[in-house]
Amino acid sequence: MATDGNETGINTRLAHSGNNPHDYFGFVNPPIVHASTVLYPNASVMAARSQKYTYGTRGTPTTDALAHAIDALEGSAGTIIVPSGLAAVTVPSLAFLSAGDHILIVDSVYHPTRNFADTMLKRLGVEVEYYDPHAGAGIASLIKPNTKVVFTESPASNTFEVQDVPAIAKAAHETGAIVMMDNTWATPLYFRPLDHGVDISIHAATKYPAGHSDVLLGTVSANANCWKQLCETFYTMGCCAGPDDVYQVLRGLRTMGVRLDHHQKSALSIATWLEGQPGVARVLHPALPSHPDHAVWKRDFSGSSGIFSIVLKGGGQRQQHAFLDALKIFGLGYSWGGYESLAVPVFLGDRTVAKGPYDGPLIRLQIGLEDVEDLKADILRGLEAAAAA
Ligand SMILES: Cc1ncc(COP(=O)(O)O)c(C=O)c1O
Repeated sequence: MATDGNETGINTRLAHSGNNPHDYFGFVNPPIVHASTVLYPNASVMAARSQKYTYGTRGTPTTDALAHAIDALEGSAGTIIVPSGLAAVTVPSLAFLSAGDHILIVDSVYHPTRNFADTMLKRLGVEVEYYDPHAGAGIASLIKPNTKVVFTESPASNTFEVQDVPAIAKAAHETGAIVMMDNTWATPLYFRPLDHGVDISIHAATKYPAGHSDVLLGTVSANANCWKQLCETFYTMGCCAGPDDVYQVLRGLRTMGVRLDHHQKSALSIATWLEGQPGVARVLHPALPSHPDHAVWKRDFSGSSGIFSIVLKGGGQRQQHAFLDALKIFGLGYSWGGYESLAVPVFLGDRTVAKGPYDGPLIRLQIGLEDVEDLKADILRGLEAAAAA
C-alpha cells in the first residue's frame, strides 16, 4: 500500500509515495499515460466535466503520481509539473504578478530567473528590484504597498549565501506579499520551504530528482492559500510536461535519498580537503564551519547537496580557464544533480549587490557519484594548471 503521509522515514516515503500499485493491477510503477483526448461516457458528464481526468494538459495518472509524491515530500497542498526548472520559476511568477506590482528578487538568483524578470516581467509592467541575500528581517524596509512577491533562492546560485528564509517570510506576510523559493539545491529532503513560511516551493527537478542529466522538468508546490491560483494559471498557460519525462523523474525520486547522501558525503569530503589546498582562497560551501552563513544553514537545513564553489587564490580568467581545461573527469557543462561531476566558471557580472569582492576567480563544482580520490586527483590537476598559468 502506498503511503503519502509523513509519518514514515524519508527513504520509505521516496520509495512508496505518489501512486498506489493496486490502482493499476498491482504493477509497482504507474502507467506512462500519453494523452491529449480523454473520453467521456455521455454528454452530461462531458458538459459538466465531472470526471477525474478531462484533457491531457490538465493532468494524467502519470503526472498525478509525481505531483502526489512531491506533495508528500514538500508538505504542500498541490504541485504542478512543468517542462523545465526555468518554467517552474516563470509560471508561478506569472500566476501572482500583474502590471504595477513590485517583486523583490534575491540578487544572487539563478541567472535565467533574473533574465526573465529583467525582460518579460518588466515588459509586462512589473517593477523588479534585487535585494541582498543577507537582508533577513531587514527586507521589511524594501517592501512597498505594491510588493506582491518576495523571491528567494537559498543557498544562492554559484556563491552559496544562505538566506534567513523564516525572517523574510515573516516580514513579507506582514504586508500580504507571498514568498517563493527556488529550493533546488537542498531538495525537500534537506529543506522543506513551506515549514519555514514559504508559500511556493520551486524545483528544477532536472537536477537531483531526475539525477541522470537526461531529463528537463520543473515542479512548483503551493500551500493551501496559493494552490488554486497557481493551478488555474498552469491550466491557462497549457505549460504541461511530457509523460515520459514525468515518469523518469518519479523513477529518479525512488533513489534520490541514497544518491543525495553520496553526493553530500563526497562533496563535503572534497570541500573540506580543498580548504587546505594551496591555490584555494576560499571554499563556498554552507555546511563548512568556515562559511559565513553556516549557523543559519545549520539552524534550517538538515543536509547539504553536491554543489559548491571555490575561489582561486589570485589570478583571473587565464587561471580559471587553465584549471578547467586541465580537468579529465569533471566535464565542463551546465546543470548539475546528475551522477557525473561537472565544473563551470562563475560569472558575477550580472550582480548588483552580491558580487564580492573575491580574492580570485570562482569555479563551481558539482560533485558526482564517482570515487572521491579520483575527483581529488582531477582537481589537483586543475589547481596545478592554474598555478602554472
Ligand atoms: C537554482 C536553479 N534553478 C532553476 C534552474 C533551471 O532548471 P532547468 O535547467 O531545468 O531549466 C537551474 C538550472 O541550472 C538552477 O540551477
